[in-house]
Amino acid sequence: MAGNGIFAEILDGDVFKYYADGEWKKSNSGKSVPIVNPTTRRTHYKVQACSQEEVNKVMEAAKAAQKLWAKTPLWKRAELLHKAAAILKEHKAPIAECLVKEIAKPAKDAVTEVIRSGDLVSYCAEEGVRILGEGKFLVSDSFPGNERTKYCLTSKIPLGVVLAIPPFNYPVNLAVSKIAPALIAGNSLVLKPPTQGAVAALHMVHCFHLAGFPKGLISCVTGKGSEIGDFLTMHPAVNCISFTGGDTGISISKKAGMIPLQMELGGKDACIVLEDADLDLVAANIIKGGFSYSGQRCTAVKVVLVMESVADSLVEKVKAKVVKLTVGPPEENCDITPVVSESSANFIEGLVMDAKQKGATFCQEYRREGNLIWPLLLDNVRPDMRIAWEEPFGPVLPVIRIGSVEEGIHHCNASNFGLQGCVFTKDINKAMLISDAMETGTVQINSAPARGPDHFPFQGFKDSGIGSQGITNSINMMTKVKSTVINLPSPSYTMG
Ligand code: G3H
Repeated sequence: MAGNGIFAEILDGDVFKYYADGEWKKSNSGKSVPIVNPTTRRTHYKVQACSQEEVNKVMEAAKAAQKLWAKTPLWKRAELLHKAAAILKEHKAPIAECLVKEIAKPAKDAVTEVIRSGDLVSYCAEEGVRILGEGKFLVSDSFPGNERTKYCLTSKIPLGVVLAIPPFNYPVNLAVSKIAPALIAGNSLVLKPPTQGAVAALHMVHCFHLAGFPKGLISCVTGKGSEIGDFLTMHPAVNCISFTGGDTGISISKKAGMIPLQMELGGKDACIVLEDADLDLVAANIIKGGFSYSGQRCTAVKVVLVMESVADSLVEKVKAKVVKLTVGPPEENCDITPVVSESSANFIEGLVMDAKQKGATFCQEYRREGNLIWPLLLDNVRPDMRIAWEEPFGPVLPVIRIGSVEEGIHHCNASNFGLQGCVFTKDINKAMLISDAMETGTVQINSAPARGPDHFPFQGFKDSGIGSQGITNSINMMTKVKSTVINLPSPSYTMG
């Protein structure tokens, strides 16, 4: 149970504490923030509403702890991360329970998220030992006009304090995908979890606490974005921001100072289906890609662009699978569960009504109860409909029929987003040409878009983000290069 057993110390009455200076604390604000269960639409948990003064203290502690951490041997940092990963996996049940209650993630997927997170942390520890244990050695005589009088030694050093802001849909996994690279690289870490997902994140942070990381190295502040959001992202102590979420990321990037940013801000991932595609494979991937976690994934299939000649057949196959999707509460492991909030459900409904008014074909009847929206496939969507361009973040998927591959590529590239896309064809040569033409960070050939496995590079073009993630890229991004040049009085050439 959440807040019980080894997690009892993170709870005070009915409000979860925040984590600072190696301790679980109550905010001096005396205020709390309610977390509404998307299924019941009632307050399920409460977290501390931290103040700006508390953020200042956290930043001071993070700065001080980082100085010592940077001098902690790499193998020791890795050892602590492995320990945290093991504790996290051991306590997957209560953490998964939080994910079910806070964000209505189906129970099985919630457990998977925690296990995947433990694996990510361990892999990150191993990768860090490999790539941070090596530097570069350069000699000067490779550049014109130089003798071999200079030896340059380069290594990767920490940035300082990393601010991590993960989104509601993976509050544990997308938190550790920022925490683990930051720590292995010698940084300290301040986490601001999403409000929905905060309690799962606090439980995860407790696993790091139990692993024995030094005081102040990791902190987790909860509270209202309006109170501490800008204050955190514009804080002078922050040396790097890793953010995943919506277009708030664009304003963060405009306000942040001269610091490295890593941002993933959503997508409108297109699924281009050619005439020779295996339509059963496509239909299975559209269901998995479009409807898992009720479409609330940045990498969900968000528009199907299918060649007219195979469109009827594909739509029939997808329809036959949509009726089999179970709809209901996350506790019962239903495929489709309530979307995260009432405002999200209202937004999705707005897109559906716009499509209806403009003449899209409804393959199922539109149905909604509270935050629960039944899966809906919209055929014959045209570019003048909002759903053709906007990201519903819900179980509603538009199908646009195309007359040529070029039309599909054009639609994909006309989007503001450029996260991932996919193409289905048996012709690998065509698939490569289409992949090269699609302006997205990743193109999947014959499979739905996905971030994982978590060590693959993950990046968005255009409004989908800045920088590349994935374990190796995140470690590199959270370091800077330092050079030391040894100047010799006379050229020296190593003899064999
Ligand atoms: O929601 C954004 C995530 O980065 C997508 O991750 O492909 O593992 O669902 P996923």
